[in-house]
This record gives sequence, C-alpha cells and structure tokens, in this order.
Amino acid sequence: MLDWTDRHCRFFHRLLTKQTRLYTEMVTTGALLHGDQPRHLDFNPEEHPVALQLGGSEPADLAACARLAERWGYDEVNLNCGCPSERVQRGAFGACLMAEPGLVADGVKAMRDAVSHIPVTVKHRIGIDRIESYDFVRDFVGRIAEAGCEVFIVHARNAWLQGLSPKENREVPPLRYELVHRLKREFPALTIVLNGGIKTDAEIAEQLQYVDGVMVGRQAYHEPWQMAAWDERFFGRSGPAELGPGGREQVEEAWIAYLQQQVAQGRPWSQAMRHALGLWNGAAGARRWRQVWSDHHLKGLPPAVVQGQASAARLGVAAHVAQGARAA
Ligand SMILES: Cc1cc2nc3c(=O)[nH]c(=O)nc-3n(C[C@H](O)[C@H](O)[C@H](O)COP(=O)(O)O)c2cc1C
Repeated sequence: MLDWTDRHCRFFHRLLTKQTRLYTEMVTTGALLHGDQPRHLDFNPEEHPVALQLGGSEPADLAACARLAERWGYDEVNLNCGCPSERVQRGAFGACLMAEPGLVADGVKAMRDAVSHIPVTVKHRIGIDRIESYDFVRDFVGRIAEAGCEVFIVHARNAWLQGLSPKENREVPPLRYELVHRLKREFPALTIVLNGGIKTDAEIAEQLQYVDGVMVGRQAYHEPWQMAAWDERFFGRSGPAELGPGGREQVEEAWIAYLQQQVAQGRPWSQAMRHALGLWNGAAGARRWRQVWSDHHLKGLPPAVVQGQASAARLGVAAHVAQGARAA
C-alpha cells in the first residue's frame, strides 16, 4: 500500500506475524529501471515471505523488473491491475489494464520467462466502470491463467475509472464477494485470494471456506495487534498474542531496538514509528501512548527515552482504569 507498507512498516508487521505474506508498496517499472534501485528494492531479511508489487504494462519492462525482484531476493512478484488513480491511468497501467487482458497476458508471460523460481501473481478488481457481469472477470482471469499466472488476488469491487478518488474507489463501488467465490469454483486449480473490506478474524475464517487466502489492507495497518493472533489461528504456529500483554511488550521491545538501529544509521526514528502508533490500540492507555510517540517535542530524543515516557503514560492510565474498576 503506497506510503504505508514501506520496509519499516513491513518489519513491524513481521514482529506480529511470521507466516503472513507481506507486500511492498506498488513500485512502477519506470521508477525501478531509471531510478534508485536499492532505495526501492532493499528490504530486511526478517521480512520474508515478501512480495514486490509492480506497476507497469510494457512486457519488456515488466520482465526486467521481475528479474530484479528475483535477484533482490523477493519471494513473489505481483502485477498491479487494480489501482484506479488518475496518475496511474495516465501511465496506462493499474486497473485500466483489466480492459486489455491480452497485454496483461503478454506482460505475465514475459515476467514468467524472466524469473526461474518465484511466482508471478496478479492483483485486480472484479470489473471496471459499470461492467458488472461476472463474465468480464472470469474471461480476464482465464486469459491471464493461460499465460501461466496461478495466483490471483481479487479486490472484490469494481474500479470506477472516472469521477472517484482512489479513496472513494476503496469504499463506494459495492463489495461482491460472491463473484470471487465463483472464480474459485470455476478455476479450482488456481489460488484465489480475496481482498476488500475484511475486518475481523471471524470474517477471514468465513472467507477461507470459499477461497484460498485473504488479503487484509487497512484493518491490518490500523489495528496491527490483530495480526498477532494470526500465526496461531490461521497457520497453526505460535504467535505473540498467546502471551497476552507480555507478548505486546515483547513486540514493543523488539520494535524499539529496530528504531535504535535506524537512529544509529542516521535516520530519524519518527519515519518508522508512524506505522506502529496503533500497537496498543484496544488496550487501556493506548491513546496516551500514541500521543507521547507523536509529540513533536520528543522527536530528537533517543527512542528508549520516549518509550519510557510513553509506557509510563500508558500504564498510568491502565492503573487508573483498574482502580476505577475496583471502586465500581
Ligand atoms: C493508503 C493505501 C495505499 C494503497 N496502495 C496500494 C498499492 O500500492 N497497491 C495495491 O495493489 N493496492 C493498494 N491499496 C489498496 C489495498 O491494497 C486494498 O486492495 C484495498 O484497501 C482494499 O482492501 P482493505 O479493505 O483490506 O483495505 C492501497 C490502499 C490504501 C488505503
């Protein structure tokens, strides 16, 4: 997710779940081929499994970028056919590519030919503009599958290419999960991952009855602690949520160590910390904790010092709440 799932964010999310696959922000082929490759591609080894998402449409460029993805050590390379922004449309990629399945098929084939051991996957919508028929998305998936793509991440709403902002395009066109379920039924050999509007673990579990995977975007970003239960619930492995509040403290400790590393490398910790402000959401004192970390006056202090103040503020509220509960 642009501006959100940078390498700091992914490192933080990896502290919460070891098994869930993480995705980069979309990087355009132009930025990769003509820009600062290490800036766009470097990631921490802890982030695996991690997928690089590309924005582009020119098969030769996509192939060159897929090769880079593999060389850099990514576990998957994904092509964005779902972004509706005007800037992306001007570049003739993103969601408008759904109108050109032949071009996407050529791009996917070129990417597959360029890599030897990582999968090439596609993220797309169920339709564009007012095209509501299931046949449209079925034909799109069928055509791209013929080119060798085996994994489809389907944002279960249309992209309206005119008149809506990207934000509105994540909210206004209605969600139609049943179309994604039908894709799985008609293409049982493909891996179909459902995306869009999923909030609770119960909703994830419900969708997993119909599809192979669920991608969670905004909810995971805003309520990160929810991910701490996923390794246990969805992968049968242990995860930090099992340890209760102690687990959250351990995640916080590991995160502060990461912030300290950033500072040692000359980067301000606040750039990374903005992704973790929701860590204590849902617990007593979360708002005070977030306020301390967001306080501009503290930005020059070492992370461990700010942590001390933030924890004191949080625990002060927690103690107050506990006292209130006893009095009641
Ligand atoms: C800030 C932001 C940036 C996003 N950037 C991307 C992106 O780079 N590539 C992409 O495929 N989707 C992007 N999306 C869309 C999400 O991946 C996802 O498809 C959408 O938010 C619906 O899922 P959700 O309801 O779980 O958030 C972005 C969403 C947000 C909120």
